Amino acid sequence: MATREALWDYRDEFGDAFGRTYFRRFGPGVASSIGIGTYLGDPTLAVDDAYREAIGLALRSGVNHVDTAVNYRCGRAERVVGEALRNSPIDRDAVVVATKGGFLPFDGDRPDDPAEFVRERFVEPGIVAPDDLANGAHAIAPEYLEWSLDRSLDRLGLDAVDCYYVHNPETQLATRSRDAVYDQLEAAFELLERRRAAGDVGAYGVATWDAFRVAEGDERYLSLAEVLSRAEAAGEAVGPGDDHGFEAVQLPFNVAMADAFTRRNQRSPGGDSDGDPDAEPISTLEFAHEAGLSVVTSASIGQGELAVEGAIPADVDATLAGETPAQRALNFARSAPGVTSSLVGASDVDHLRENVAAGTFDPLGASAFDAVFE
Ligand SMILES: NC(=O)c1ccc[n+]([C@@H]2O[C@H](COP(=O)([O-])OP(=O)(O)OC[C@H]3O[C@@H](n4cnc5c(N)ncnc54)[C@H](OP(=O)(O)O)[C@@H]3O)[C@@H](O)[C@H]2O)c1
Repeated sequence: MATREALWDYRDEFGDAFGRTYFRRFGPGVASSIGIGTYLGDPTLAVDDAYREAIGLALRSGVNHVDTAVNYRCGRAERVVGEALRNSPIDRDAVVVATKGGFLPFDGDRPDDPAEFVRERFVEPGIVAPDDLANGAHAIAPEYLEWSLDRSLDRLGLDAVDCYYVHNPETQLATRSRDAVYDQLEAAFELLERRRAAGDVGAYGVATWDAFRVAEGDERYLSLAEVLSRAEAAGEAVGPGDDHGFEAVQLPFNVAMADAFTRRNQRSPGGDSDGDPDAEPISTLEFAHEAGLSVVTSASIGQGELAVEGAIPADVDATLAGETPAQRALNFARSAPGVTSSLVGASDVDHLRENVAAGTFDPLGASAFDAVFE
C-alpha cells in the first residue's frame, strides 16, 4: 500500500524537474497530477510488452499514479501493471495504484460468445446473480465486487490497492431505479469499508462516464451528494468510528468534454454553505472540491483525438502551456480547479515521454482557467 512517507520521498526525488503544483495531495500523501491509464489497446502480447515498458518508464520519470481496471484489455492490463511495478526500481509504496470493479472481466482474450462466457464463468458458479446484472455484463452487488476485488489483487500480484473505484455505476440505471442504484452503492461501500479496515484497500470512490457530467434530469444522472451520503452511512454502519474511505471521483474531462466544470448539476444536501436549501446547483468539480474529494480525469486528451494539431480550439490553445497539442490538452485537464490528477493512456514510449514532459509546464491558475470559458 502507498504510504505517506514513500509518496513524499518520491516527490522529493522528482519534484524539482516539474512545474508548479505537479504533485498534489492524493491518497495518504501526494501523487503526480499526470497519471498513466491502461484502458485502450488490443488484448495481445505485443500491447502487453508496450504497456509494460511505458509504465516502467513512467514510474522512473516522475509519474507515480497508475490507473487500471479488472476488465481492461480482457484482464491483461492489471497483470501488466503488477509486472511493471515488480520490475521497477521504484518502491511500490511510492505509487498510488488504482483499479476498478463493475464490468465482468474476460480472461485474457475476447470469447467468441460473450453471453455464454458470462453464463458459464459468472452466473452458473454463483459469482453473479442474474438479477444483479445490467446490460448482461455489469454488476456492483457486494458479493460480486468482493470476488472482483480479490481477482484484481491476484492479477496485480499486490496485497492492497490504494484506490478502488466502483466502475461506471450509472450502467445499473439501465435495469433499476435511481434509488435502487444508490442502495446498491451503499451496500458496495459497506463492503469496501470492511476491506479498508482489513488493509486491502486504501480508499475508494466511483469512476463514472456519464453520471456526473449529464444534466440532473438525464436518465444517466447520479447525485454526488447522495453518493457521498451513502458512503457516510456505510462508514457509520461498518465503524468503529464514523469516518469513511470515499475519497475519489473519476470522470471524463478534456477540452471537448468539460461538463464537470461547465454544467451546474450538483446540489449540496443542506443547500449552500449557509444552509440555503434553494441555493443554485454547482458543478461537479466545485462540489467535489467543497467536499474534499479528489477528482481524477479520464480521457484527458480525448482518447488521442486532441493530440492532433488544430483539434483544440485556437483561442483555448493559445492560453495553454506545452510544446505539442497533446501536452496542451493534458495541461488543460490538470489545470481545472478541483482536479487532482489527469490520466493519459500511453502504450507508446514516445507518447509517454511527451506526456510526462507536459508536467514541466505550469498549469493555468484558477482565474486564467475561468477566463477560458468567458
Ligand atoms: N471510468 C471510465 O469509464 C474510464 C473510461 C475511459 C478511461 N478511463 C481511464 O482513463 C485513462 C485515460 O483515458 P483513455 O486512455 O481512454 O484516453 P486518453 O488518455 O485521452 O487517450 C489515450 C490515447 O491517446 C494516445 N496518446 C497518448 N499520448 C499521446 C500523445 N502524446 N500523442 C498522440 N497520441 C497519444 C494513446 O495511444 P498509445 O497507446 O499508442 O500511446 C491512446 O490511444 C484510461 O487509460 C483509463 O485508465 C476510465
